[in-house]
Amino acid sequence: MKVSGSTALVTGGGRRVGRAIALALAESGANVAVHFNRSEGDAAETVEVARSMGVSADSFQADLADAGSAVRLVDTVRSSLGHLNILVNSASMFSPGSFEDTSLDEWDRYMAVNFRAPFLLAQAMYRAMPDGEQGKVINLNDWRTARAKRFAYGVSKAALSGLTRSLAVSMAPNVQVSELALGAILPPADMVVERLGPVETKLGPAARMGTLNEVSAAVLSLIGNDFITGETLHIDGGRHIR
Ligand SMILES: NC(=O)c1ccc[n+]([C@@H]2O[C@H](COP(=O)([O-])OP(=O)(O)OC[C@H]3O[C@@H](n4cnc5c(N)ncnc54)[C@H](OP(=O)(O)O)[C@@H]3O)[C@@H](O)[C@H]2O)c1
Repeated sequence: MKVSGSTALVTGGGRRVGRAIALALAESGANVAVHFNRSEGDAAETVEVARSMGVSADSFQADLADAGSAVRLVDTVRSSLGHLNILVNSASMFSPGSFEDTSLDEWDRYMAVNFRAPFLLAQAMYRAMPDGEQGKVINLNDWRTARAKRFAYGVSKAALSGLTRSLAVSMAPNVQVSELALGAILPPADMVVERLGPVETKLGPAARMGTLNEVSAAVLSLIGNDFITGETLHIDGGRHIR
């Protein structure tokens, strides 16, 4: 599948990893829908940069904890930029919380944003695709999903892995669905960077953090290969093999 001329929705595309992916897609000639929840200014700035690359781009607000908003997001993008060929599920909640402390409300919110929304967006995209049209779904996951200190996050990402494989068989043969299991690329937005120092020695064989370019190159490579589906591609410097 060619990126150029396709239309991509990147959730959480205004900042950080999502922004890098949105701009890499734009640079390769895709029209991009930059989704945001609260980061309106960042999303607008990302759209400006994408447009300067000669593609159509716009920003779209949706709280993905709300099922109706997730489904409407795809409709709104379609009315503005045409039907979607590429969906990148990057938006995610990520905050501390142990098994013992996780409330029902937090559990539901994690599942809604990190797991249910990617399903709803993929389904809405698929239903609106013209017959025979090719597409790709890429889910942003984590190299490690069993997490004592970020319990609901980890469970929601493990569920996302299952969703990736189920979507791969359900959206076949025209849509391929894979996930990137990221290692440390950017520190969490609320983390003091100095705290990362000693952690770097535990980052796996590569012994460094990954770069945004390494993530976006993997996205472009998955989109360009129609014989990869249901795959978990680790972009973690080999951390998962230790
Ligand atoms: N950064 C890393 O090193 C790393 C490591 C492992 C895995 N990952 C995965 O890679 C992806 C991107 O990582 P990241 O660090 O860029 O993510 P992030 O900064 O933690 O979050 C990305 C975006 O998710 C959006 N979001 C959160 N709650 C939302 C909601 N209720 N509705 C809609 N959007 C919501 C936020 O959008 P607004 O700002 O617009 O509110 C936020 O900017 C995530 O799926 C993450 O799990 C990242």
